[in-house]
Amino acid sequence: MQIDVSDIEKIIYKYIPTAKGYQQDVLSAMDYAFSAGGKRLRPMMMKLCFDMLSDETAYDESVIGPFMAAIEMIHTSSLIHDDLPALDNDNLRRGKPTVHVKYGEDVAILAGDGLLNYAYETAAKAFTVKPGDVRVEKAFAILAAKSGVYGMLGGQSLDVVMTGKKINDDQLEFIYLYKTSALIECSMMVGACLAGADDTVIAKIEEAARAVGMAFQVQDDILDIKGDEAVIGKPTHSDEKNDKYTYATIHGIEESKKYVKEMSDKANGIIRDIDVINDSARKDLCSLINALIDRDR
Ligand code: IPE
Ligand code: IPE
Ligand code: MG
Ligand code: MG
Ligand code: MG
Repeated sequence: MQIDVSDIEKIIYKYIPTAKGYQQDVLSAMDYAFSAGGKRLRPMMMKLCFDMLSDETAYDESVIGPFMAAIEMIHTSSLIHDDLPALDNDNLRRGKPTVHVKYGEDVAILAGDGLLNYAYETAAKAFTVKPGDVRVEKAFAILAAKSGVYGMLGGQSLDVVMTGKKINDDQLEFIYLYKTSALIECSMMVGACLAGADDTVIAKIEEAARAVGMAFQVQDDILDIKGDEAVIGKPTHSDEKNDKYTYATIHGIEESKKYVKEMSDKANGIIRDIDVINDSARKDLCSLINALIDRDR
């Protein structure tokens, strides 16, 4: 078994609202950002964890689909806001002009808000499919918590206030764990939760995802320094332009690469120890984690 980006996009594109009515500018900007492409890593990891842990009572796509779309909406909203002039001030994302460059800053701010809120409207569709379902309730709570001020948003908030300032190891770890690992933890935990995994397994998935997220952000820092803009689809040297200290600027490229490999191996080790139902999905998940180590975008 192998899932690729087009399988994921087939599912998540079903949930994006049509750009019509008086809100069509903001809807069109939401669609522009969401449909621009990207690796679709988070919904892909959610689906792989779901497949890996689902038994014969597995829920179908009408339950996991809204959550896959929701996590990609939250992630995309974080990118729209991350690129704004007040934050990283970048003009290229997913190979296209950023939303504020194309639609203006006012519409971009609202498109970020719109996608963030629409994510919850979308995930809530799973409640209609399974009224009163405990797994869906728990998954919804994970989605909300990992995205908010005690999750991704909390990481972004320390990232912006520390811009231009020297950060210590604790602060660096906090920023990475929250701005990046939190949504990856969310993706994998929601997949496991909807599959019916118990709390012990969900906690192991969270630990593995935390390591994946740390590796992912450090590789992102490496690509900011050494990547090819045409391949990564966003500007290189954005961190340097903004005077941001990153793992890669503090520790250098070689040590950063070692760290990415170490964290990815740690994640794979934890996943290999979990008692899963579908071993082929586990292999796909481990291959995906390995493929991220040397990714060039
Ligand atoms: C970029 O995420 C933001 C980070 C957390 C580093 P991705 O690298 O997953 O971006 P897309 O979704 O592929 O565009
Ligand atoms: C941003 O980190 C992470 C989030 C958007 C939550 P970066 O600022 O390094 O992400 P890129 O490099 O712009 O994608
Ligand atoms: Mg940023
Ligand atoms: Mg950025
Ligand atoms: Mg970056």
